[in-house]
Amino acid sequence: MSSFILKDLCYSYDNKQREIISHMNYEFKDNKVYSIVGKSGAGKTTLLSLLSGLAKPTQGSILFDGKDISKLNSCKYRSNFIGVVFQSFNLLPHLTAIENVILSMDISGKKILNKKEKALELLNSVGLDETTANRRILKLSGGEQQRVAIARALSYDPAVILADEPTGNLDVETENSIIKIFQKLAHDHGKCIILVTHSPEVANMCDVVYKLSSKN
Ligand SMILES: Nc1ncnc2c1ncn2[C@@H]1O[C@H](COP(=O)(O)OP(=O)(O)OP(=O)(O)O)[C@@H](O)[C@H]1O
Ligand SMILES: [Mg+2]
Repeated sequence: MSSFILKDLCYSYDNKQREIISHMNYEFKDNKVYSIVGKSGAGKTTLLSLLSGLAKPTQGSILFDGKDISKLNSCKYRSNFIGVVFQSFNLLPHLTAIENVILSMDISGKKILNKKEKALELLNSVGLDETTANRRILKLSGGEQQRVAIARALSYDPAVILADEPTGNLDVETENSIIKIFQKLAHDHGKCIILVTHSPEVANMCDVVYKLSSKN
């Protein structure tokens, strides 16, 4: 069970002349699917980087279960509590889908039994069969890679999933099934799911929608 409280959160890249995130005071709770929407450049990916601890606020703070994340051990925080699906997927191209998922289980340091079976189960749950699971990433389509990235984010059972356009390359049917997986994780397993999306249909399926406005 986890939650985020954003307190007067501000962020600007290097020169600090342009504030991308400005005095934000959102809350994210468990049991819910959130979507972050807004124009290209509005700061959606930046917000996910801040929530994942990859970027540090220039002002204000993010509390995760009441603790300021900038004061937590960031590697442990990321590898235990947060599952991330990046826009670029960040999969290892020469490993198979299943090896990518197992590697992520290993990196988390969590005790996970029957890793291979669990990895295959996760890949099946996002619509990839055993043959595809055993193919190397560089031999998979964009949509298939996206699904591997989702399975990988779920691999160590994190409390929070941060996903940047997780269904961006998928057909409507697969998109629906992925969103249903996220809904189930939130509503039945108490996870906090935060999705960036450009799709009004995906946003409509989420419990809460936060709209970022562009500061340009
Ligand atoms: N490393 C960086 N250094 C400087 N500026 C950056 C950096 N990364 C992003 N920006 C700028 O910050 C703004 C917000 O970027 P961000 O990637 O968060 O937008 P986004 O809402 O995710 O857009 P998209 O929908 O296109 O993915 C943009 O104007 C972008 O050019
Ligand atoms: Mg982005």
